[in-house]
Amino acid sequence: MTSKDWRIGVAGLGTVGAGLLTFLSERPGFAPAGGRVSVTGVSARSRSRPRPFDISNLPWFDDPVALATSPDVDIFVELVGGSDGPAKAAVEAALNAGKPVVTANKALIAEHGAELAALAEAKGAPLLFEAAVMGGVPAVKMVREALVGDDIRSIAGILNGTCNFILTEMEATGRSFGDVLAEAQRLGYAEADPTMDVGGFDAAHKISILAALAFGCAPNYAAAEIEGIDQVDLLDIKLARDLGYRVKLVASADRSPDGVLVRVHPSLAPLNHPLAQAGGALNALFIEGARIGRIFVQGPGAGAGPTAAAVAADIADVMTGAVRPVFQAPASSLSPFTPVDPSKSVGRAYLRFMVKDEPGVIAAVSETLAEAGVSIESFLQKPVENTEGVPIVLTTHAVAESVLMAAVERIAGLSSVLERPRLLRIARI
Ligand SMILES: NC(=O)c1ccc[n+]([C@@H]2O[C@H](COP(=O)([O-])OP(=O)(O)OC[C@H]3O[C@@H](n4cnc5c(N)ncnc54)[C@H](OP(=O)(O)O)[C@@H]3O)[C@@H](O)[C@H]2O)c1
Repeated sequence: MTSKDWRIGVAGLGTVGAGLLTFLSERPGFAPAGGRVSVTGVSARSRSRPRPFDISNLPWFDDPVALATSPDVDIFVELVGGSDGPAKAAVEAALNAGKPVVTANKALIAEHGAELAALAEAKGAPLLFEAAVMGGVPAVKMVREALVGDDIRSIAGILNGTCNFILTEMEATGRSFGDVLAEAQRLGYAEADPTMDVGGFDAAHKISILAALAFGCAPNYAAAEIEGIDQVDLLDIKLARDLGYRVKLVASADRSPDGVLVRVHPSLAPLNHPLAQAGGALNALFIEGARIGRIFVQGPGAGAGPTAAAVAADIADVMTGAVRPVFQAPASSLSPFTPVDPSKSVGRAYLRFMVKDEPGVIAAVSETLAEAGVSIESFLQKPVENTEGVPIVLTTHAVAESVLMAAVERIAGLSSVLERPRLLRIARI
């Protein structure tokens, strides 16, 4: 442990950057290794933008790369965001200069983590990203460090607070996706361009990082199967509830002898399951290991305070001289995992078919499923007002996804079926 003063450069003064500067001003004695911490440079797009704290006394850098390489900076903190562009350039510049980097940038780590880890380890500079996954919940350290003695088999959880807020509100208020998204944007839970969140990409970045840490491989974001919540229909939220389920955006990573399957899907969780009960903007995560069994953690996945606390914990690790590989193993031994073909995965599903209200339709649907080898677990038929046709809703027993998809395609082609069938997976949790 080295007792010295640490000079920090902070690039990005938005939600997280503001949170960090607020934290450092509230905790001037924050010095887990002794010594002192001081901010010796900041960078953002606009110098004149009003900020929740005074930056007039802090050295200003127009260019985050110049900040990263400044001789007055010992630790570079990247809170700009984005997988490429200035964030990546500045992180690379800091690492090339042998400087420790702390970042909250999941897109950067999920998409370029392996090459950055190789650079960091070659230069002997820590690269830490606790805040990138689940904000204030210490998921990264837990998986990379505390659980390194186990063999993790699967991880599944709610990793995007915006989607969780939207789904929770849709169920609670009976409003459509579009209505609730607009409210989430007004409240600051959703970005003006919500694609990263509602498209499932943000959750996919996070689960790709957790999969790499858990299974000892390089992040393989390109292999993730991603479906967001933008197509989730209020009707399915209501009908799923009638069947005893709640719709959640579940991100999961499963390891099998064939490889690793990383996916993000709107999924059904039983109402009494902890994932179903994690409402609002909460994040929640199950980890299953060969020896420890199951662990469940839940907490705030975003926001200035929780995320800044996670960034500060990484700064503390740098100060105390904690030395670990960037991922679970040295970068030189990491390779991308072998992705499992999702069509081979086996699971239960919820299906909804909108059909003409005429005799024989239910029989046609159930016969087609039976012929394809899909066995029905439960069945619900409800009259729905003000819609054309009648929904037939069912859940299946576990079935290979390829078999299920083939059956759904055949049913979609029946003349009595009025629109594309809706399919939601039932989470394997
Ligand atoms: N928000 C959260 O709760 C949260 C949680 C976990 C992780 N993260 C991650 O933390 C990072 C920052 O997120 P955020 O929510 O704080 O973002 P944000 O509020 O949008 O702030 C981004 C900051 O980066 C600055 N910036 C943008 N382009 C720049 C450039 N070319 N050069 C210098 N500065 C530039 C912006 O400057 P101006 O202020 O002048 O526009 C702004 O201060 C992202 O990687 C995000 O994924 C966020």
